[in-house]
Formats: sequence, structure tokens, C-alpha cells
Amino acid sequence: MKMEMLKISVKKWMFSSFLLFLLVSTFVVAQDATTIYANVDQAQTTINKNIYGHFAEHLGRCIYGGFYVGEDNQEIPNTDGVRNDVIAALRELKVPVLRWPGGCFADTYHWKDGIGPKEDRPTIVNQWWGGVTEDNSFGTHDFLNLCEAIDADPYLAANVGSGEVKELADWVQYVNHGGVSPMADLRRENGREDPWNVKYWGVGNEAWGCGGNMTAEYYANIYKQYATFMADWSNTSKIFRIASGASDGDYNWTEVLMKNVGRNLIEGVALHSYSVIDWGNKGSATDFSESQYFTTMQRALRMEEYVTRHSTIMDKYDPEKRIALVVDEWGGWYDVEEGTNPGFLYQQNTMRDAMIAGTTLNIFNNHADRVRMANLAQTINVLQAVILTDEERMILTPTYHVMKMYNVHQDAKLIPTQLQENPTYELEGKSLPAVSVSASVNEAGVVHVSLVNIHSTESQNVSVMLRGTENSKVSGQILASDQLQDYNSFDEPTKIQPKEFKDFKLKDGELTVELPPFSVVVLKVNN
Ligand code: AHR
Repeated sequence: MKMEMLKISVKKWMFSSFLLFLLVSTFVVAQDATTIYANVDQAQTTINKNIYGHFAEHLGRCIYGGFYVGEDNQEIPNTDGVRNDVIAALRELKVPVLRWPGGCFADTYHWKDGIGPKEDRPTIVNQWWGGVTEDNSFGTHDFLNLCEAIDADPYLAANVGSGEVKELADWVQYVNHGGVSPMADLRRENGREDPWNVKYWGVGNEAWGCGGNMTAEYYANIYKQYATFMADWSNTSKIFRIASGASDGDYNWTEVLMKNVGRNLIEGVALHSYSVIDWGNKGSATDFSESQYFTTMQRALRMEEYVTRHSTIMDKYDPEKRIALVVDEWGGWYDVEEGTNPGFLYQQNTMRDAMIAGTTLNIFNNHADRVRMANLAQTINVLQAVILTDEERMILTPTYHVMKMYNVHQDAKLIPTQLQENPTYELEGKSLPAVSVSASVNEAGVVHVSLVNIHSTESQNVSVMLRGTENSKVSGQILASDQLQDYNSFDEPTKIQPKEFKDFKLKDGELTVELPPFSVVVLKVNN
């Protein structure tokens, strides 16, 4: 009899535990569920493909030893001195635009030293980056031909800090004039008949700092002078002049520029913002604590505020949004790898960088009405690089993979999204939104949703309410890894790679997704 009673009470206990479990798990799911409303039929603004742009400066091993190994190099297969593996990887990435030759270097660079027979070119000491002597063997022709090889638009950053108005006017004529003129003739003498029709031009770089330590008022005047003499020789597309812009939250710079330059001499205003923990103590790129990761993400997510507030100032002077906000330097910045030249800014690239890339690109996509170009710093072997090289070896970083997964958004229409009840990522009394999203629909009607979960330990249940589409087939890719500190090395080059993602369900327009901790997911919804 006693035995029977015991069996019954065990059953009762198991049943009530099961009910409790159901209750608790429902509560947890409800707590964690994030709803995103995506109004596909309201997509209007084009996500300019140039948001996915890159930046290549004469800095460390970005140009020499990165892109360019020299025409005589027998060990590394190359085309006119540019590595073939790099060309293939960048074509695959769909790089839309490439900025060159700097950065701070641009305001020391005299383009005429980099044309003509290579053996006759003068040297230049790279005063900002390591004090190394360069032989100018990679110059204007080399760069513009490289852009043709990777099918990217060139963006030339001109020397304002230590250059002259005529020097820039001549450069524009040299690369863009199709008729008979002193500079076009010189170009032909140097072996190039047709002009390259370069559209994008930077008028100085960081004029408030390495570009000349100018005030905003002084630079605005100088800008107008330079911009006035940049003739539009190009037959194909109108010249696009980009003024040196603010750093981070220097809103006064943008205000003064917009107010003083007017709207006829300018097509873009730049902005530079790096995700750096502390300029005096940046920390290791690979050996970092959770607290350092959290701070990096806090810095990266500030891009939302910077872009919003600089855009708001621009709205005041340019309500039709004719002038673009060009974030032509962004990315993570850490201490250099041990044993490397401190002036070369060579750093590894981990899942933390994948988180920076995913969240930042979502911010840019969502501000596509004003942000119409951005350039990740920098393409090869410098800062948040997409490619690292070591002699004949080349690897692709997690950032490369995110940029590639996201290239589906290039020139697609931005789908307005609204996030409800975004879960938080909390640490040491501080809190960040854990989930970030952007979405687009392309000409063929295919919808792409890119999602990032920056939480270091918790996965997220996300429910995307897709409105205004009949699409019902879903597929996806994910970039994730075991540790935030994981990276691709020359010994393990494919440790982090996009994989097929299957953790989703689509029912009646509701797409439910389970995002693992620190992961980037891009979903494709089509017919
Ligand atoms: O990208 C490295 C440097 O950072 C650039 O040369 C400069 O513009 C910025 O300060």
C-alpha cells in the first residue's frame, strides 16, 4: 500500500515539475524573443554599393608587400606586379570602390613622383608610417589599373596639406582628360591612351590633424579654392568631390563645413571613426578580455549616433540630401602584433572584428539615405584588414567573410525594419543592444536580412515579421566560432568560414531564427 502511494506521489511530482518546466521555458522564450517588423513593400532608398568600399594607404604592408609585389617577382604570381590571389579575392568580394593613397600619407604624396619609368622615379620617405623609404614604384597608373582589374571605382585622395592647387588640377586633367592637353599628352607618353574617368576625389584628409592642423573655418576656405579648379573632364560621370570631414562626434566641423562651403562645390562630406578602446591603451587584437570586447562594441555602436547627428546637421543645409556622408575610414584599431613595426599597424582579426563589421554595416545600410559611401580601414595587412599576407601565403579574415556575406545588399532597396524588445548584453553595470539588423530587397524581388547577435554567451530568438512579400523559400549563411578570440591564421586559414545556416522557420510571413552568441547571419528569402 505504501509502495502504491509512493508511486503516485512520484508521478505527481514529475507532472508538476514538467508543468513548471513548461512555464519557465515559456517565460524565458517570451523574455528573449525579439520581434523585427520588416516592411518589404515600403523599400524605397537604394543602399549605395559604395557603402561596401575599401581603403588602401601607403602604410606598412598594405601596398608594398600586400597588393604590390613588383613586376619582377617570380615567387608570387602577379599581374603587372599586383598579386593574382589578391585580385581574385577582391573580385569575389565585389569591392565597389577603393580609396588611395591615404590617409595621412595622401597629404605628403606628390603624384608626379609616381609616374613615368620606374627607375627614374624619386624616392619618398613615409613620414607618418614607420619612416620607411619608398621607391614610388606603385603610382597612379598602377593603382588605376588595379582598380580596373578588380572592377572597382577608384577614389583618389588628393594632397591639400603640403600640395598645391595646380598639382591637384593637373592630376584631375592627367587621369580624366580625353582630348589634347599638357597632362593628357603626358599620360599618353606614359603609355595610357584613354582617360580613366575617375569620379571620386578626396580634397585632403583629416585637415584638422595630420592633413594640416587646420580649423574648420580655414579648411572650408581652402576646400573651396581647391574644388573650384577641379575641372570636370570626365565624359562618363560627373566628378564627385569629398571634403575632409570630422572625427567621431566633432559636430562643429560638419556644421562649419556645410554652412561655409555651400552646395555647389561639394558632393560628399567625410567622417572618420575607429572602434578603439583607448588611444593610450588599445589592447591586443587577439588576447582580449570580455570587458575589452564589450568596450569595443560600445565604441563601434556609437557609429549610430555619429551618423545620425552628422546627418541631422547636413539636413539643415541640404534637406534634399544631395550631399553624401562618406565614412571613408572606419574599423577596429588595436595594438600591433608582437614583433612587428609599430608604425605599420599590422593586427590580427577575430570574431570581435566580425561583430564590428556586421553591426557597422547594418548601421550604414539603415542610414542609406545619407551614407552613400564608406571605406573600411584597411584592405590588406593594416588595421581591420580583409586580407593578410605572409610572403606567398594569403588568408581571408572573418571581416572579409562578413563583407562578402553582406554584399547582397549592394544597390538593393533598403527595407525599413523596426526592432521591438531588443534583448540587452550587460556587463559590469553597462548595457548594449544585443541584436542588430538590416534588410533589403533586390531588383529580382529577393529579400536579404542580415542579423548580428553581439552577446558573448546568450543566443537570441528572433522573429522577423516579413510584410509585403509572397516569398516563401529561405536559405542562409552564418559566421560563428567557439571563441570570440578565434581568428584565421596562416597555419589554420579556414578556421572561421561562413557555413550554411538552418536554424530558422518561415510560417505565414513570420521568420523565426535562433542566433547563436557572437554570430552574423544573412538570410535569403525568395520564391
Ligand atoms: O588608417 C590609418 C590612419 O588613420 C589614416 O592614415 C588617417 O587618416 C587616420 O588617422
